[in-house]
Amino acid sequence: MTELQCDVVIIGAGATGLTIATDLQKAGLSAIVVEARDRVGGRLRTETVDGAVLELGGQWVSPDQQALIAMLDELGLETFARFRDGESVYVDDTGSATRFTGDLFPTSEETQNEIERLIALLSALTAEVDPSEPWNHPRATELDAESFEAWLERNSADAEARANVALFVAEAMLTKPAHSFSVLQALLMASSAGGFGHLVDADFILDRRVVGGLQRVPVLLAERLGDGLHLSQPARSVEYADDGVVVTTDDLVVRARRAVVAVPPNLYGRIGFSPALPPVRQQMHQHLSLGLVIKVHAVYPTPFWRDAGLSGTAFSPFQVAHEAYDNSGHGEGTGTLVAFVAGETADRMLALTAAERERTILESLAAYFGDEALSPTVYFESDWVSEEWTGGAYAASFDLGGLVRWGAHLRSPVGPIRFASSDIAGEGYQHVDGAIRIGHEVAAELARDLRGAGL
Ligand code: FDA
Repeated sequence: MTELQCDVVIIGAGATGLTIATDLQKAGLSAIVVEARDRVGGRLRTETVDGAVLELGGQWVSPDQQALIAMLDELGLETFARFRDGESVYVDDTGSATRFTGDLFPTSEETQNEIERLIALLSALTAEVDPSEPWNHPRATELDAESFEAWLERNSADAEARANVALFVAEAMLTKPAHSFSVLQALLMASSAGGFGHLVDADFILDRRVVGGLQRVPVLLAERLGDGLHLSQPARSVEYADDGVVVTTDDLVVRARRAVVAVPPNLYGRIGFSPALPPVRQQMHQHLSLGLVIKVHAVYPTPFWRDAGLSGTAFSPFQVAHEAYDNSGHGEGTGTLVAFVAGETADRMLALTAAERERTILESLAAYFGDEALSPTVYFESDWVSEEWTGGAYAASFDLGGLVRWGAHLRSPVGPIRFASSDIAGEGYQHVDGAIRIGHEVAAELARDLRGAGL
């Protein structure tokens, strides 16, 4: 075992952990990052698959994500707009495809009005929720006890309107069925993104991409860290007392004044804490889980949908792939579609053989874009649930009642240990922006804390 010493040891080299380490170094403190994988970036990953460069995890940047945008500027990274010229496609419950423009799905006028009414109700509620402490909303207990599905049923008799509004939060964001999370959890998701209106506006929320891929952020941060980063070193145990911690990996023993656990909360249980974490945390961790989504890339010789006047954007709460977008790379001649399969539909897909799943998902793409979609030259699925050091996607959320019962403990330190990740961020929750925001916050708190302690 190699013994190392530093001011702060950080577990996890995702966007969160690397932001913290970079800030601490800027503040004149020493930081060591231990990372389980043999690469940095966690849920950010760019890979070349059969010659196609694909972003398998997080990729889009929206205008409200100011912490991420500032980081891109600092690192000198350029962005490009998602291709969106032309008409979008909506497929209804009979399988019939309709072209449309704007945000409002081309349902009957009655259903459109109902969707707008529900969005207005949810927007008003969202405006009352502070993303950094949703549990302090005056009606938090009531809002956290009712499922999002039950709330929609109580507020609308129109099943198609309910399915469409549920889609924006359930399949598209938390990637869990709408009956499994609370209205308060849905409102947190919306308020952390700047308002419910942003969730329903694909042009806003999926605005731009980074040239070279969003994983460039952690890769460039890691380059700055130099030998403070240790790959293929899963933290196995954290022993702690008031004055310090010892983090042990397979090859390292790192002694530090403070530690940050910068991994998604579903993985806290993989680390042996000694003494054991307080009971309230042990309980809380069991009620936070990642959602499930399969991100599918299909690459074609050309972006054929554009010739038909289509943008590549498509939605349907009734299709296996509930949303799809043009995901062609920067300056590439080939055309790439990205599609998402979430929640219980993803359960059904993962129970199929790989060949059956590919055929079923491509048929869903064909329902939007025609039979040409059935024959990509490259097809690739990333589900993240199969990744030992992630376990799902996009990020963690509480089950019913969890936000009120445990939310206030999410970011509270335990002795010298702090917790940070996009999954427990307020603003920017579930996004890279949240990872960077919570990273800056935790690093600033640690710098104050360590200076106060005269270290
Ligand atoms: P992250 O999980 O990235 O990093 C944690 C790190 O800790 C990992 O590197 C892991 O290997 C490591 N680790 C775990 N256990 C360990 C242990 N015991 N010891 C040492 N290391 C350990 N966001 C966005 O802004 N725009 C988008 O378009 C999308 N889209 C999207 C698609 C998909 C498919 C996914 C999976 C995710 C997104 N996201 C996204 C979400 C975004 O990717 C995510 O919020 C952040 O990358 C999370 O960064 P963190 O550093 O918090 O965790």
